[in-house]
Amino acid sequence: SDRVPFDGPHQAGIVTPAQDQLVFAAIDVTTTDASALADVLSRWTTAVRSMVEGVPVGGGEGGLAGAVGQPPADTGEAYELPAANLTVTLGYGPSLFDGRFGLQDKRPAVLEELPALPGEQLDPSRCGGDLALQACADDPQVAFHAVRNLLRIGRGVVALRWMQLGFGRTSSTAEAQTTPRNLMGFKDGTANLRAEDSASLGRWVFVGGAGAPEPDQEWMRGGSYLVARRIRMLVESWDRASLGEQERVVGRTKVSGAPLSAPHGSEFAALDLAATDAAGKPAIDLAAHVRLAAPETNGGQRLLRRGYSYTDGMDPVTGQLDAGLFFLAYANDPDGFVRIQRRLGAHDGLTEYLKHTGSAVFAVPPGTAPGEDWGASLF
Ligand code: HEM
Repeated sequence: SDRVPFDGPHQAGIVTPAQDQLVFAAIDVTTTDASALADVLSRWTTAVRSMVEGVPVGGGEGGLAGAVGQPPADTGEAYELPAANLTVTLGYGPSLFDGRFGLQDKRPAVLEELPALPGEQLDPSRCGGDLALQACADDPQVAFHAVRNLLRIGRGVVALRWMQLGFGRTSSTAEAQTTPRNLMGFKDGTANLRAEDSASLGRWVFVGGAGAPEPDQEWMRGGSYLVARRIRMLVESWDRASLGEQERVVGRTKVSGAPLSAPHGSEFAALDLAATDAAGKPAIDLAAHVRLAAPETNGGQRLLRRGYSYTDGMDPVTGQLDAGLFFLAYANDPDGFVRIQRRLGAHDGLTEYLKHTGSAVFAVPPGTAPGEDWGASLF
């Protein structure tokens, strides 16, 4: 089947095997009328329930061809396309809880704007948002159609703040998926958390999961937090770096993805951070990305990475490619990301080839029961 069920204890699009295409929209609410917002969330839920079944907004052909004197309920471009494993995942930004909607007492303590971090040069027009919609599908037109129609439904209540398209998932999130490559040419996702590892998902990804701290906000139980970072790769300088340098800063071989502590072994061999090479130097460099990001050096902290490659064409100032990784990570406390990124930004050999240009954090509420609306846990 190419359909992902909408309802469940967690929203679809988190542990769902990563689809190929992403359309990510950060959205602001332009009214202070909380009931208008709740109404949009309700209408969004109905529309998404249709679209994930491959059915137009408004239901069947009727969604495309209603009264001649009215705009059709559905914009039409996904009609007769497959459902393409579409998932749409909703998030709430910290700014949603600033008092405009009377939600200030419902803000989870861990939901705050991210602090300034090393290695970033943020563009304010690519940061923040009251709401997020993460649409993933195996067909780019299906993902775009979903976001376009939701924005259309929300017109007058919500407005697009920024948007990012992504392609070529850069993470595997299920054991059956082979590891894809990011735009640096390296396999990305080898040591990622997998859908099958429910113990780690409970401890590190889902709010109130087994072994995780108790949430301060009951409505977030079963939810998660999403950190989005638009990380530009300075591909021109990366492409001039030698193979040895590239492998040293990642800590893995380029072709097979095996850790440099066992370069002829399997991609999935455990990192041996104590291993040394013939010259007695650490086999995995002290500044290697995998060493600094690994749970072994971060108090066990794990993240569910679900990023996509992106390109926005040419940087008009330099004529260079504007391309990189739209990093998406789920965790039951955004501070897990912050602590790892502090170390990466300060010490990671990769940092020289990267620039974080966009940033946002969202509370991702739990999934819905059949017939329940997205806003039900919050409003
Ligand atoms: C691992 C690339 C940014 C966290 C990896 C791996 C690659 C990679 C090639 C090894 C394969 C794997 O296990 O997935 C990149 C690139 C980045 C980037 C190109 C930026 C453009 C980040 C950021 C974080 C992060 C911002 C979190 C703050 C991790 C973690 C691992 C990892 C947790 C697994 C380490 C382990 O347990 O072995 N990354 N990464 N990465 N990365 Fe990144």
